[in-house]
Order: sequence, then C-alpha cells, then structure tokens
Amino acid sequence: MIFDIITIFPGYFSSPLEEGVLGKAIEQGLIKVRPVNLRDFTTDRHKTTDDRPYGGGAGMVMTPGPLAKAISFLKERDSRAKVILLSPRGEVFSHEVAVRLSRLSHVILVCGRYEGIDERVIEKMVDQELSIGDYVLSGGEPAAIVVVDAVSRLVPGVLGCEDSAMADSFSDGLLEYPHYTRPRQFMGLSVPEVLLSGDHGNIARWRRQQALRLTLERRPDLLEKADLDRDDWQFLKDLGYGGKGRKE
Ligand code: ADE
Repeated sequence: MIFDIITIFPGYFSSPLEEGVLGKAIEQGLIKVRPVNLRDFTTDRHKTTDDRPYGGGAGMVMTPGPLAKAISFLKERDSRAKVILLSPRGEVFSHEVAVRLSRLSHVILVCGRYEGIDERVIEKMVDQELSIGDYVLSGGEPAAIVVVDAVSRLVPGVLGCEDSAMADSFSDGLLEYPHYTRPRQFMGLSVPEVLLSGDHGNIARWRRQQALRLTLERRPDLLEKADLDRDDWQFLKDLGYGGKGRKE
C-alpha cells in the first residue's frame, strides 16, 4: 500500500517512519510512505504556500495553486489514488475507517496548515476529509501519521502475526482484555490464576469476559455495536447491563 503525504514539513515524518512497526513494514516493502514537499510545487522565489483570507480575519489560508499541482502530479502517476484531507471538520477516524482505507492500494494524504486550505481545492480535488478527534492541531501532520500507523497495522504481513491485529481493541468492537507477563508477583499483585492454568478454553473465556467488563465500565457506547453472542449478553446482564439493541 502506498501513502503519499503532501506537507510543508516533510522532515516531520522521518523518525516515525524509521522506527518500530512502520519502519519494519517499509523496510520489507509492505508499505511505501512518501512525504511530498508542497514547496516543490510553488512557482515564486519565496516558495509561498499561504495567503491572506478573502473577507479578512485572523490567520492565513493555504493557497490553492501549489496544492492542486501537487495532487495532480501524484494523480497522474496513479489515477485510482484516493485524496484525503486531514482536517478537524472531517469524518472522525475510527477502526472501521482504518479497515476501509486498508483495502485501498494508494492514498494521498493532504496536511493542512494555517487556518485552513482554499475551499475550491477541497471541492475539486479532495475525495474525503478525515479528523482524528474533536480538537484542533497546528496542522494535519500528526493526524497523517496516526492514519498511516493505524491503517498499516491492518495491511497483511505488517504485524507478522495476523492474530495481533484481530485481538487489538476495537477489532471486535470491544476494548482489549488486560495483559500480564513475568514476574508472577509484582508490587504485591499476582497474575490471575487462570492465565497460569494452561486451560486455553478457560483463558479465552476469561479474556472475553475481561474485555466485556472493561468495555462496559469505560466505553458502554461500544456495546451497542459490538458483535456479542448469548454468553456475552448473559455475562453483561450479570454485571447489571440492560443495554438497548439486544439481539436474542
Ligand atoms: N488538522 C487540525 N486538526 C486536526 C484534527 N483534529 N484532525 C485531523 N487534522 C487536523
């Protein structure tokens, strides 16, 4: 899968793309992440990418020319590439959106800066706007790396063990169960007995119940959409959950 990232700060991405899961996925050729310097598509001596807003007001607006040129240049190489603008007014990024994007072969992520970008570029050239949450960042760059990371984890081969992505929080609509490793005793707390039992059926049941309990405590909204079976519902009922949308 290819991610092109249009930005005025291409250097921003160097270390996240060298480290950990992303670094390895790039090394193995499973994903390509290519920061594209917007200033390379400017035509003036100062490599200007912003201008004052029509109608007045605070801040600067990203000027449409260089952005349109950069997007056209990348689309000419691959017309199927989907153009996504990172913006606080976009659809909120989630596991479902990440799954959808992971099925694409090529996305072009556009990082906004300043107060925003000229609306005409969005109208003519952007397929989708994505937000990573209800807060305002100084630019789309941190959001772009969040999207690249979350989507890449879902690309076959990137995690090595496909079960890790399956067990992640949200993949089945629930928060993930708690994890333990050695030592058996730590700061007065023991590893739950069931995890030492070697009984894989019991361990799977315990983990499922912990995921349900945690989700009920912290994110009960997720239970409405989660894929729950009869045992799950019984367990939640015993915990006092009488949620809507119950399927018998
Ligand atoms: N740019 C500024 N704020 C943002 C946000 N919350 N999500 C995506 N892009 C942004």
